[in-house]
Amino acid sequence: MNYRHGFHAGNHADVLKHALLLALVHRLQEKPGGLFLLDTHGGCGHYRLDGEEARRTGEWQTGIGRLQGAAPIPALADYLDRCRRLGGENGYPGSPLLLADLLREQDRLAVCELHEETFRALRALLGQRPRVALHRRDGYEAAPALSPPPERRGLILIDPPYELQGAEFEAIERCVGKVLARWPQAVVALWYPIKRRRDLRAPLRRLAALPARAALALELMVHADDSPLRLNGSGMLVFNPPWRLAEQAAPVLQVLAERLAEGGRGDLVWLRQEQA
Ligand SMILES: C[S@@+](CC[C@H](N)C(=O)[O-])C[C@H]1O[C@@H](n2cnc3c(N)ncnc32)[C@H](O)[C@@H]1O
Repeated sequence: MNYRHGFHAGNHADVLKHALLLALVHRLQEKPGGLFLLDTHGGCGHYRLDGEEARRTGEWQTGIGRLQGAAPIPALADYLDRCRRLGGENGYPGSPLLLADLLREQDRLAVCELHEETFRALRALLGQRPRVALHRRDGYEAAPALSPPPERRGLILIDPPYELQGAEFEAIERCVGKVLARWPQAVVALWYPIKRRRDLRAPLRRLAALPARAALALELMVHADDSPLRLNGSGMLVFNPPWRLAEQAAPVLQVLAERLAEGGRGDLVWLRQEQA
C-alpha cells in the first residue's frame, strides 16, 4: 500500500467525487429516517494544500484551485462552502470529514482505512465525533459485513486507490455483489479513474450487470482519453441512485467541465435503467 492521497487531494477527481457525494447525501436526507453512511477507503480526512505532498504535484491548482475565490457558482455553492469551512486556510477536506459534517442526529457514519499512519491521522481528526465509528479494516470486507444496517437506508462510498490494476475491479465487483445480495436497496457510489476509456468498457459492463435497480455513471473528462499514463478524467458509478439525482448532478457536471478543463466534458450515462 504505497498510495498517499495527499498528492492528489483537491484535484479534479476529488472535486467531482466530493461535489457528487454531497448531492447524493442531500437527496437521501430529504427523508427524515436515519441513514447509515460507510466510507470504505477513508484516507486521513484532511489535507494540507501547502504541504510537501500537495506542493510536489500541484494537482489541486487545476481542481479546487480553479473554483475558489471566483464569483459564486450556484451548482457548487454547498460544496465550496464546506471546503472553505472544513478545509480552513490552505486545507482541503477528505470524504470522512465531509460525511461527518453532514450527519443529522439520526444518522451514523463508519469509515475504514487500512494504512496505519493514515488511520492514526483519521482517528486524531474524527475519533471523538459522536455517531462516527472508525475501523482499521479492509473496506471491501467491511461493506458486506456491515450490510444491511439496522437503518436499512444509506450510502456506501467506495474510493479505492486502484493500485491493484485489474484486480481492483474484481475486488470491487465481489464487494458490491455481496452488498447488494444482503442489502438490495443500498446506494453505492463507486469512484473510478479514467485513463483510456476502452480499458474501462469490460469492468463497467460487469459492474452494470450486478442486480441493482439502476446504475448511473457520472463522468468528468478534463483531457482527451488517449494516454494510459495520465488521469484524463474520472467517474462516479452510482448503484440504486436516489430519485432525481441525475437532474441534480447534470448542472454540477456542466459547470465542472467548463471550469476545470478547456474542451472538458461531463457525461451522464445510465448503464442500467430502472424498468417502468
Ligand atoms: C483514494 S484514497 C481515499 C480518499 C478519500 N476517500 C477522500 O475522498 O478523501 C484511498 C485510501 O484507501 C486506503 N486503503 C487502501 N486499501 C484499502 C482497503 N482494502 N481498505 C481500506 N482502506 C484501504 C489507502 O490507504 C488510502 O488512504
